[in-house]
Amino acid sequence: MKKIASSLIAAVLVMGSSAVLADEGMWQPNQLPTIAKQLTKAGLKLNPNDLTDLTGFPMGAIVSLGGCTASFVSDKGLVATNHHCVYGSVQYNSTAENNLLKNGFLAKSFKEELPATPGQRLYVTEEINEVTKLVKAGLTNAMSGSDRYKAIDINSKTLVAECENDDRYRCSVVNFHGGLEYYLFKQLTIRDVRLVHAPASSIGKYGGDIDNWMWPRHTGDYGFYRAYVGKDGQPADFHEDNVPYQPKHHLKVNKSSVDDGDYIMVLGYPGRTNRYRTAYEVENQFTWVYPQAKAYREEVIDLIHTNSEVGSEARIKYESTLAGLANYAKNYGSMIHSYNKGSFFSRKQALETNLAQWLNSDSKRKAKYGTALTGLNKLLKMDDAQQARDLILGYLRYSKMLTTANQLHRLAVEKQLPNIERESGYQERDIARFEQRMKAVNRRYDAKIDQEIVVAMLTHYVALPKAERVSSIDNFFALSHSTAANFNEKKLREQLTKMYKNTKLNVQEQRLAWMNKDVSDFENSNDPFIQLAVASFKQRKAIEDKSNELSGNIQAYRPKYMEALIAYFNDNNLPVYADANSTLRITYGNVKGYSPQDGLTATPYTTLEGIVAKDTGVAPFDAPKKQLELINNKRYGQYAKKSLGSVPVNFLGTLDITGGNSGSPTLNDKAEFVGLVFDGVYESIIGDWDYDTKLNRSIHVDIRYMLWVMEHVDGATNLIEEMDIVE
Ligand code: ARG
Repeated sequence: MKKIASSLIAAVLVMGSSAVLADEGMWQPNQLPTIAKQLTKAGLKLNPNDLTDLTGFPMGAIVSLGGCTASFVSDKGLVATNHHCVYGSVQYNSTAENNLLKNGFLAKSFKEELPATPGQRLYVTEEINEVTKLVKAGLTNAMSGSDRYKAIDINSKTLVAECENDDRYRCSVVNFHGGLEYYLFKQLTIRDVRLVHAPASSIGKYGGDIDNWMWPRHTGDYGFYRAYVGKDGQPADFHEDNVPYQPKHHLKVNKSSVDDGDYIMVLGYPGRTNRYRTAYEVENQFTWVYPQAKAYREEVIDLIHTNSEVGSEARIKYESTLAGLANYAKNYGSMIHSYNKGSFFSRKQALETNLAQWLNSDSKRKAKYGTALTGLNKLLKMDDAQQARDLILGYLRYSKMLTTANQLHRLAVEKQLPNIERESGYQERDIARFEQRMKAVNRRYDAKIDQEIVVAMLTHYVALPKAERVSSIDNFFALSHSTAANFNEKKLREQLTKMYKNTKLNVQEQRLAWMNKDVSDFENSNDPFIQLAVASFKQRKAIEDKSNELSGNIQAYRPKYMEALIAYFNDNNLPVYADANSTLRITYGNVKGYSPQDGLTATPYTTLEGIVAKDTGVAPFDAPKKQLELINNKRYGQYAKKSLGSVPVNFLGTLDITGGNSGSPTLNDKAEFVGLVFDGVYESIIGDWDYDTKLNRSIHVDIRYMLWVMEHVDGATNLIEEMDIVE
C-alpha cells in the first residue's frame, strides 16, 4: 500500500514539474540529459550522462541483430538474445533427421558453433548525427511529390555512401517525427555470426502461440550467438579461420536478479510505434488493415498446416515463417479487440479537436500549421484507395518463386543505373546480402506450399474491382474475365503446376547465375516465373512510383503536422519522444504487476511450479521430462528466490517496449544483466498506438531461470563459465 501511494505521488510530481511521465517513452540517447533527474530519481545508480556515450559502458555492449536486439555478455563476443530471435538460424540448421528446433542446440566448444542464417548481421551503433539540413537540402514547397521524394532519397543515399567509405560500417539515414528530423547512424557490422546455444522449443517457446502475448507466462525465451571477425580483429565474411570478436564492453550478469518494485531499464532497438498518427489513419488501420491482414495471415498459416505434417521436412522449412505469421496475427487480434472495446478512436478525435482549437486561438500558429492536418489526411486517403490490392500483392510475396523472380529481374534493371540512383536493396552495398538471400531460398521453400500461397492470394485478387486489377497479371494468368463468381481455380492450378515444374529458380546455381545477367536475358527467358516478373514489371513499378510520389507529397505536410503536435504537447506538459523507428532507445521503469481486468490482479513473477501446472505433455505445453522431474524434486540449485520459495521464470515490468526490443537485456540500476525482455502482455499491445500506464507491461525472462535451465537441464556450463557472473 505504502509503495503504491509513494509511487503515485512521484508520478504526479514528475508530471507537474516537467513534461515527462514515468515509464512511458522510448528515449533517444541524446535526450538523456533532459531526463537525467528522473532516471536518478527512479533508481539508476550510474551517471545518466554515461548512457549517452555510445561506445562506452553500457551502450557499447548493446547490439542490433536487425529486427531484434542483443548484448555482449563475454569478452569473447558471446551474444545473448531471445530464443525467438535465433529461431530462424535454428530452423535454418534443422532437418527432419536433425531437428534442432525440437531438440535444442548447444555448442560445447567454439568449433561446434554453427553459421547463423546467411545474411544475419550484428550491428554496433558507434555514431549518431543529426543530418536534417543535409537531407532536406534543395527541398522547396513548389516541387512535385516525386521530385521531393527523389531529393530526400538521393540526399540520404549520398550521406550513406560517404559514411560507408569505411567498409566495416553500415550507415543509414532514419527519419524521426515523420520527417521533421533526420539522423545518420553509423554501425560497425559484424558479418560472421554463429549459433552457440538455443534450448529446446519446449522450453524456449514453451506455451507457443497459445501463451504468446499473454501473462502468466513460463517461456525460456533465450538463445546465444557469437560474433566472429578476421584475425586482424576486423569484420569479415564467414571463414573457418575467423576468431571470436573482442567487444570493448560486455555486460556483467547479476544472478540475484531483481525484486518487485526494483528499477529496471532496457536499451534496445524498438521497431515501430504509431503514437502520433491522425484519427483517419487510426480508423483505417484498426477497422480495415488489421482485420484484413489478420485474415490473410491466418489463411496462410492454415494452408501451411494443411500441406505439411508436424516434424516433416516441409514443415520444418516453414516453422520460422509460421512463427512470424502467427506472432502478428495474434498481435493484430489483440489490437482490434482493444480498439473495439476501448475509447482510443474518440480520444484521438478529441485530441484533434483540441489541437485545432489551440491552433485557432493564435493567429501565428493558425497561419503556420492551420492546413497541415487536412492536407495530410487528404493525401493519406489517396494513398489508401488501392490498399486492398496492395495488401494482396504484399502477401503474395510469401511466395518464394514469385519474389525471387521479381528481385532477380529488378537487380538487372537497377544495375543499368548509376549506383547512387539505384533502389535501395539493389545498390553495390546490398549485393553480398542479396546473394546470401538467394542462397538461403531452399531451406525455406516447398513448391507445394508456395503454389498454395499463390492460389490463395490470387483468389482474393480476382475479387478486386476491375479498376484495381493489374492487367499484366490478369493477362499472364488469363484472369481478365475472372471475377470472384466465375473464377476457375482448377485452370489456375493447372497453369501454376506447370510453372513450378518448369522453373529453374528452385536451383541455387541458377539463381546465382541470374544475378549476373542483363535485362535482355530476362526478356528472352523461358522460365515461367521470370516471364511473369518481366511481364508485370512496368505496372508494378508504376504502382511503386505512384506510392513514392504520394510519400513525397506527404512529406510536405507530415513534418508540419508533427511540429504543431509537438508544440501543443509541450504547451500541455505531455511527454514528447519520437515514435520507434528501429534505432537505439532507452526505456526505464520498475518490476510491477498489473490488473488486466476488473477484479483480477497479476503478480509480477511466475515460478517453476507454474510450468508443471500448465504442462499437458502435448505441445506447446510439453516441457522436457528432465525439467519436470527437477521441478517436482525441488532441485532449485542456487537459483531460488527467497520471497518466492522457488526459481522465478518470467517477470513483468512497466517498460515501454515494442517488437524489435526483443532480445534486449533487462538491466538493473547498475546496468547489470538480470534478464531479457521478450514480449508484452495482451492488453498492452495496442500501446504501439495508444499507451496506457495502467495496462502497459513488458514480459522478461528472469536470469535465474535462464541460468537454472542452462546449468541443470542443458548442461551449458561452458557458457555459464564464460560469462562474468556477479551477485
Ligand atoms: N511475441 C513475441 C514478440 O513479438 C514473439 C514470440 C514468438 N513466439 C511465438 N510463439 N510466435 O516479441
